[in-house]
Amino acid sequence: MPRYCYVNGRFTPHNQGAVHIEDRGYQFADGVYEVVTVADGKLVDEEGHMARLDRSLKELRMPAPMKRAVLQLKMRELIRLNGLTDGLVYMQVTRGVAPRNHAFPAEDTPPALVMTTKRMDFASMRKFTDGVSVVTRPDLRWARCDIKTVSLLPNCLAKQEAYEAGAYEAWLVKENGEVTEGSSSNAWIVTADGKLITRPPTNEILNGITRRTIITLAAEEGLTFEERAFSVDEAHAAAECFVSSATSFVTPVVKVDDAVIGDGSPGPLSRKLLDAYKDYIAGRRDRAA
Ligand SMILES: Cc1ncc(COP(=O)(O)O)c(C=O)c1O
Repeated sequence: MPRYCYVNGRFTPHNQGAVHIEDRGYQFADGVYEVVTVADGKLVDEEGHMARLDRSLKELRMPAPMKRAVLQLKMRELIRLNGLTDGLVYMQVTRGVAPRNHAFPAEDTPPALVMTTKRMDFASMRKFTDGVSVVTRPDLRWARCDIKTVSLLPNCLAKQEAYEAGAYEAWLVKENGEVTEGSSSNAWIVTADGKLITRPPTNEILNGITRRTIITLAAEEGLTFEERAFSVDEAHAAAECFVSSATSFVTPVVKVDDAVIGDGSPGPLSRKLLDAYKDYIAGRRDRAA
């Protein structure tokens, strides 16, 4: 079955999808994106992702490429064309194509929209059953990490260092020793007295859509939740740790740097939240977020 992408108004075979060399996404990373999970043919937290896309566009004073409802139809059409049941839809909007100049292009420059899909087999992923390790690295990013921009170079460098260290993710750390988030996920710990902790959604982190759903699920499960910053030392000493993102769901973390977390296997709260999240995306719970 041929794989299609969507590029500026057309569904095109994936290997022929191309953008202009003067696309501002290519030249300035002047663009935003979203990743929406598709599970059993259904888009997970679609409204939350669409709302965050609108917010990212607004914060960067970028026009929307089309009405939200039309974009949602195009997304569904791409999913159908690619016969996607489990995986993700990636969508990226840039400020369009214009002669290279840092300042914005003429107001009538249409934004550029690209969409792709990727197949993923969530059911067989070992990370959910075995857990993963993370390493900590300095957070070298800018002051608007709340905007989901394609400007991801510090994130890429940190993720590469994680991979080279044999880890799944890098947790990014401020100069004061606080963890902000992962290079492509939100960071969570469970304290020795069973409190679930994650950092508040300020400009220092991306307010993950999965993060928000997990907060709702945790409340439904009666877990004690505290939204506050935590340090690397607290992470090393935590009873449990996990990361969350659209494609990581709730991924248990069993090692942070050299510190083994708990008994080195996924902890009970992480497993409970992963099960709750899997039930949620399978429609076995009321829609939480
Ligand atoms: C830096 C960062 N933080 C957090 C997240 C998690 O966000 P979401 O749950 O919406 O996927 C991501 C996802 O890509 C990310 O890149």
